[in-house]
Amino acid sequence: MKSFALSAIAALAAVLPVSQAQTFTACQPLNRTGCPTMDALGANATFLFNKTGIPTNGKVWQKQNNGKIDWDEKGGTTFTIERSGDSPMVASQFYMLFGRLEVIMKSSKGKGIVSSAILQSEALDEIDWEFLGSNNTHVLSNYYGKGNSTYGNRGREYPMEKSPHDDFHNYTIDWTKERIQWWLDDKMLRELLPTEALNGKNYPQTPMNVRLGMWAGGDTKHNKPGVVEWAGGETNFDDGPFTMMVREVRVQDYTAAKEYAWPDVIDPTGSWEKIKVTSMAEAGQSPVLKEITKPSGVRNRWAALPQGAKIGIIAGSLGLFAVIVLLIAFCCIKQRRAGRKEHAALLAAEQKEAAELQEYKVQMQSGKFGYGGGYNRV
Ligand SMILES: *[C@@H]1O[C@H](CO)[C@@H](O)[C@H](O)[C@H]1NC(C)=O
Ligand SMILES: *[C@@H]1O[C@H](CO)[C@@H](O)[C@H](O)[C@H]1NC(C)=O
Ligand SMILES: *[C@@H]1O[C@H](CO)[C@@H](O)[C@H](O)[C@H]1NC(C)=O
Ligand SMILES: *[C@@H]1O[C@H](CO)[C@@H](O)[C@H](O)[C@H]1NC(C)=O
Ligand SMILES: *[C@@H]1O[C@H](CO)[C@@H](O)[C@H](O)[C@H]1NC(C)=O
Ligand SMILES: *[C@@H]1O[C@H](CO)[C@@H](O)[C@H](O)[C@H]1NC(C)=O
Repeated sequence: MKSFALSAIAALAAVLPVSQAQTFTACQPLNRTGCPTMDALGANATFLFNKTGIPTNGKVWQKQNNGKIDWDEKGGTTFTIERSGDSPMVASQFYMLFGRLEVIMKSSKGKGIVSSAILQSEALDEIDWEFLGSNNTHVLSNYYGKGNSTYGNRGREYPMEKSPHDDFHNYTIDWTKERIQWWLDDKMLRELLPTEALNGKNYPQTPMNVRLGMWAGGDTKHNKPGVVEWAGGETNFDDGPFTMMVREVRVQDYTAAKEYAWPDVIDPTGSWEKIKVTSMAEAGQSPVLKEITKPSGVRNRWAALPQGAKIGIIAGSLGLFAVIVLLIAFCCIKQRRAGRKEHAALLAAEQKEAAELQEYKVQMQSGKFGYGGGYNRV
């Protein structure tokens, strides 16, 4: 996972290539004060993306970068790379300070294509699941402390019984201040202790949000050779489109907070103890939690309806439609009938007139009225 490290550096340099845009911070709190306060999740949330797709108003999830994000009713939310420069991704607008992320997903096939489900902080702490599109037997776990990529041995590869590209699996990250666990379905693959992360110094411990997405590490236009190689080789976009699918996401914030704020005085160590936590008990729910728990949009409401109700509504709508069609038809037929009658009457009148005219002419010609001088020529 060199890539994320490189991309973090690129992001700091503010010249990040789109394909590496998964990892970035808008405000590096280790270097400055005044970075924005973060809405806390402060609770549990379940997102059934197969039922609803990702809500598009951006209040809970915000789309980043180029590339398509869509909804497949049977499968879930789809992220698609169609061309060079695509790296579709969503970032949650809520943060958690220690917590749990469960993602039910299917990663994308494709040489050089990288799918990912990660937790990341604005201080560039990061806990990752990553999938190489060229490798259908292994999944990668990784982490970063404050974006530090200079020490190795952070990434691990794990064999999978079934392909991560063909089957949905549950990829879980469980993060406390004592340890980080990576779970694949019902098996714990890995546990990381703070002592293993530069003695706690590089142990992820600042408020994180959820980022789901994909990018083309094998896009030679946007990546250095080392990244292309790491990603499994050069991507041929003609083999695309490349799609990853997320069916469900469950998140749990282990702190019942309304919001998290960075310390007033810069803490270059990025310690969790310096994070200012406003509790939910004190200040109520964060706006983003309110948005999550409020009755959702039309598509969600529709999706949330039981099948019977849907059938009822469809039947009802069809019924109404039928009535309208009938009304229009009736009205038109009536009008047409009326029209036809009028037309017939008019025609009859015309015919009558024509007949009369003819009669008149005949009579004229026959000199009935004493005109034309002829005699009984009829
Ligand atoms: C802080 O900024 C300096 C340059 O302004 C940069 O070299 C350093 O990497 C930054 N530190 C962090 C932790 O981002
Ligand atoms: C969140 O879910 C966990 C596990 O299901 C449960 O133990 C906990 O009580 C829940 N928390 C809230 C705030 O509902
Ligand atoms: C969505 O996926 C969940 C499992 O993740 C499943 O229980 C549920 O039935 C699915 N819903 C739909 C509408 O497919
Ligand atoms: C997948 O990754 C594992 C672990 O690095 C490696 O042993 C295996 O050869 C890879 N498979 C392919 C097809 O690249
Ligand atoms: C990054 O890791 C190296 C070890 O490779 C360590 O010497 C250095 O202090 C770390 N930097 C930060 C900012 O934690
Ligand atoms: C995902 O796996 C974890 C660990 O086995 C489990 O606790 C959790 O219930 C699973 N989540 C879903 C949505 O199935």
